[in-house]
Amino acid sequence: MRIFLDTANVDQIRQGVKLGIVSGVTTNPSLISKEGLADYKAVVKAICKIVPGPVSAEVVVEGVEPMIEQARDIATWASNVVIKIPATTDGLEVISVLSKEDIKINMTLCFSLNQALLGALAGATYVSSFVGRLDDIGHDGMELVRDIVDVFEYYQLTTEVIAASIRHPEHCVVAAKAGAHIATVPYKVLMQMIQHPLTDAGVTRFLADWQRVSQK
Ligand code: G3P
Repeated sequence: MRIFLDTANVDQIRQGVKLGIVSGVTTNPSLISKEGLADYKAVVKAICKIVPGPVSAEVVVEGVEPMIEQARDIATWASNVVIKIPATTDGLEVISVLSKEDIKINMTLCFSLNQALLGALAGATYVSSFVGRLDDIGHDGMELVRDIVDVFEYYQLTTEVIAASIRHPEHCVVAAKAGAHIATVPYKVLMQMIQHPLTDAGVTRFLADWQRVSQK
């Protein structure tokens, strides 16, 4: 399972990329606005320069034609940009048109197996299954990831499954076991993934023991 960062914070993205394990980034309008970033194009271009892999940027208009027009424009901003299109009826039509133009699409706000299946058939490169938001309303978000992975595998669909709306490190564990191709995680969760109190205690003890012998 690959790791993407789910953020529009350039410092966090730089830091994650420096660690050598972040192979992509996903943004959405809420994440962009959280950073107070007004120049959408400049921000996406900056992120695309830092990240070695795909960077998802979402359309921020409604309707088939406006979405197609905006997506085509965003697709020119960088060679590694991926366009996020919502899992709606209009979105499906947009995905079908753009995928034939070799524009990479991440179908976002995916909350059902049917949505994911239709997105894959329309030619989406990725579908983003929103785990945390399903958990929030009392569903098992990760069960959906598992189902999508199984069905895509059964029908040999090449669309990759992104476990999104990740809220804590355990989500990453279950996403990996479910066979998600990618987990897109907030920076805080990425940091939590590497931390373990026994590792910290072990390092402290090894260094203390080493100092005892090296001072003899
Ligand atoms: O990038 C979309 C998704 O990961 C958002 O997560 O926490 O707002 O549900 P969240």
